[in-house]
Amino acid sequence: MPEAPNAGGSARFASRAEKELRRETLVTPLPELGLVAANGPNDPEPELVVENGVVVRMDGRAAAEFDVIDRFLVAHGLDLEVAVEAMALSDLDVARKLVDVDVPRAESVRMARGLTPAKLARVAGLLDPVELMFALKKLRARRAPANQAHVTNLKESPALLAADAAEAAARGFAEIETTVGVARYAPLNAISLLVGSQTGRPGVMTQCAVEERRNLELAVNGLVTYAETLSVYGTEQVFVDGDDTPWSKSFLGAAYASRGVKVRFTSGTGSEALMGHTQGMSMLYLEARCISVVRAAGSQGVQNGSISCVALVLSLPGGTRAILAENVIAAWLDLEVASGNDAIASHSAIRKTAKLMGQFLPGTDFVTSGYSVMPRHDNTFGGGNYDADDLDEWMTIQRDWQVDGGIEPVGEAEVTRVRERAARAIQAVFAELGLPEISDEEVVAATIGYDASDMPDRDRAADVAAADAALGRKVSGLDVALALDRRGFEDVARAVVDMQRQRVSADYLQTSAVIDEDGTVRSAVNDPNAYTGPGTGYRLEGARWEALQALPHVIDAATLGTGARTVQPIVVEGDDAAVGTDATEVVIAVGPAFSGTIRETINGLDHGDVLAAIVDGVAEGGGSPRIVRVRRVADVAFIAHDGARLSGSGIALGIQSKGTAVIHRVDLQPLDNLELFGMSPLYSLESYRAMGRNAAGYALGNRVGPVPTELDNFARAKLIVRTTLLHARETRAVVQGAAPVELAFALEGEALPR
Ligand code: 5AD
Ligand code: CA
Repeated sequence: MPEAPNAGGSARFASRAEKELRRETLVTPLPELGLVAANGPNDPEPELVVENGVVVRMDGRAAAEFDVIDRFLVAHGLDLEVAVEAMALSDLDVARKLVDVDVPRAESVRMARGLTPAKLARVAGLLDPVELMFALKKLRARRAPANQAHVTNLKESPALLAADAAEAAARGFAEIETTVGVARYAPLNAISLLVGSQTGRPGVMTQCAVEERRNLELAVNGLVTYAETLSVYGTEQVFVDGDDTPWSKSFLGAAYASRGVKVRFTSGTGSEALMGHTQGMSMLYLEARCISVVRAAGSQGVQNGSISCVALVLSLPGGTRAILAENVIAAWLDLEVASGNDAIASHSAIRKTAKLMGQFLPGTDFVTSGYSVMPRHDNTFGGGNYDADDLDEWMTIQRDWQVDGGIEPVGEAEVTRVRERAARAIQAVFAELGLPEISDEEVVAATIGYDASDMPDRDRAADVAAADAALGRKVSGLDVALALDRRGFEDVARAVVDMQRQRVSADYLQTSAVIDEDGTVRSAVNDPNAYTGPGTGYRLEGARWEALQALPHVIDAATLGTGARTVQPIVVEGDDAAVGTDATEVVIAVGPAFSGTIRETINGLDHGDVLAAIVDGVAEGGGSPRIVRVRRVADVAFIAHDGARLSGSGIALGIQSKGTAVIHRVDLQPLDNLELFGMSPLYSLESYRAMGRNAAGYALGNRVGPVPTELDNFARAKLIVRTTLLHARETRAVVQGAAPVELAFALEGEALPR
């Protein structure tokens, strides 16, 4: 039983109860309703009895009790020649082969053909998360991972669809899909995606996910190049409710493929529970049945990994692991895997990304089966799990792990260029095809706007009427190419024609195909995953690794901290510094690189301004400032103490180039001090003025209250790189054994001592 809210009155429990995570529902397993992720108590024992070449029992059922799924699998799925050998192996023996680096992928794939769904689920259920990831890395069909994008918007704005598709293509997505809020928009959205994608990068495949009849029509007309709308389920009743059978789905799959359209099925844990027909079985077992159906239907691949049901599976213990296990089973059955991470999995960014790592680190054929390249609330697929605002995080995580998640960094100038060109191209196509006008304002908003709310409203009645008409007169991919060509978009026109040629040659119907910019198809046939341990298979290295490192916001370490503002020197060095005699004197001791190879503090305060503030503060406090440079050491304690030894009052304020400061007194141990200002990123010029005032107070023997200090717990994470680089430069400026020198303070642009 859950506790009553905040039963003990603890403020910490109350605080945690407010976190994002707590918006979602976690439940205990309830196997009767199929609410169990894997290894359910009612799941059948793996079983296969073959008599005279006929399957008489499978997974707890006699042939007479077989449902439509069992019959389909027995007829078209199980390879009985392998089955006898494979089913005779223990679950553990099969599982160990999946993670044995010396058992090649091909051997596991061969064996899988002879395993029943219960056996597949049982074996996958034996693997822990890291073993599952390793198995997935080994079993992925294509050598290199890729990614798929979602492109939709609430206004179904064609200019914005085209611009987002172009950006997605430029960022390296291999497939881009759209859907519709209003069904009748389908042809217009498909055309917008086709034009936008080919503007961003030729060869990117597109789909418009709609009802199957319309979907097939768009495919036949050459407005899309792939389909993944064919859902399958793990119990007969869900098929029946959907007015389908495994045979009807196979027929549909063949219909797409016969028209040269790449097709994959969709399945995923949780759908049967959601639809109320689980027969008390676990989600993973039912999903193993689905994946076996996909294999038996002859599809090259599957979009799986719970997909739209992910939040349901994640409500249960072991949910994340079960979803990874279903991806593994799909790859094991030699299917291309587009591995989910598309629908919102959790409110919690931590939990969501923890789940993602299961697919991201091993790499799947499509790490997400839909990354929302636009902001989340424009995603009419029901919200994107990762969206436009998360792109920098995604690319940073790729860089962190040296792992290819299929998204490339592109700078703002290039992104706006391709967005604008795509918006212009679709504007031209609409004009040529007699579709309602796309205005220049729409082009501008689509290029630089945030989301559909920045788009001018269109006449939606006119758009849907035009969409109906376009479908009626069978506007085709070729018509789109001709329109582009007539309006001066020859390159985009050629790319659209090339996609029609891909449909005819149909190489991209091979397992796990993606198309390169030059039209080369890379699939499991000509670019297979041949991972057999360290040093083999796909590794992110070479030019691709260089490209994925180069995020637009990466700073050149060589220039960091050198300061752009000050051109002229603001201090001039004089003679060796002598010990002062003025009892009101405060020495301001700066580090070796101050105002030399370093020109600003860690938070960007100009060294000239900082020095002026300290000098003013000392004067305000009644002291006489004198500036020296300590050259022999970079440590702020010694800089300050060396200063104190020169000071007429015995008081000095030492400051490192990055801005860390110490007030010191000559009779103290060097590593002791009067006041330490270690939080340099927090200081303003006013802070430095206050430090100067306090130093003067000590010199005059006044009672001094310490300068108030603040604490920023993120300072280290934020600034450790700058700290390291600035300190390295300070250290490099050290001159061993050199005496301190007098500094004259010159204003910027002047050489006059002050
Ligand atoms: N099983 C089967 N089909 C699914 N879809 C989403 N999740 C699942 C699942 N777990 C289908 C939806 C829709 C598309 C996004 O994929 O029905 O057609
Ligand atoms: Ca998808």
